[in-house]
Amino acid sequence: MIEVIPAILTDSSLKLKELVRNLEPYTTRVHIDIADGELVPNKTVTGYDEIKEIESALKFDVHLMVSDPAPYIKEWLHTQADRFIIHSESKCDHGSLINYLHQCKRKAGLAFNPETDVNKFKDSVIKADFVQFMMIHPGFQGQPFLTEVVDKISVFHKENPDIIIMCDGGVTPERAPVLVKAGASALVSGSYIVKSQNIEEAIQNLKTAAGSM
Ligand code: DX5
Ligand code: ZN
Repeated sequence: MIEVIPAILTDSSLKLKELVRNLEPYTTRVHIDIADGELVPNKTVTGYDEIKEIESALKFDVHLMVSDPAPYIKEWLHTQADRFIIHSESKCDHGSLINYLHQCKRKAGLAFNPETDVNKFKDSVIKADFVQFMMIHPGFQGQPFLTEVVDKISVFHKENPDIIIMCDGGVTPERAPVLVKAGASALVSGSYIVKSQNIEEAIQNLKTAAGSM
């Protein structure tokens, strides 16, 4: 079963809360994008204060597109977020952070920008619960999908068949099958879902396409 996870990326607290409420009836999990304006050329809300104020049964994946993830994680641990995605490009000790998240009973994913050499992070990859390949240059929704990353995923999956692969960015029903074929088992989609007139239908279209490899 392929997981389809809607993504929210915003610099507005109100918008974040509104989007969470809009998605809530149609999903059990939401991917919250957090950007610091340093690791990526965009700045979003920090998210934790907003999510603390929202009463919801949703689960959250926190995608930390930030240079220094530790202070964000510390705050986010006061929420129900149960999966965290840190970037291989962040200036931090990835292995220690993954261990810390595990001690706090949270799952940890390691994300790779399109141009990053995954082989340089083998030690952290084996500690992580999953990896996340960025299919776009991170920072914004609606960026061009980078087809060349699909080959990278295929190679990684052949070498590491047991590691769970998530793909983030540019995911549409047209692109879902090729990602699943390459080895992805979780697909994160922002604009295709949140900009759609019918969120329920958009999520269903992605699930159907992902299942129809
Ligand atoms: C990009 C974010 C993605 C983004 C996906 O910086 O990490 O999660 O929200 O949005 P789309 O699907 O529009 O590329
Ligand atoms: Zn993301």
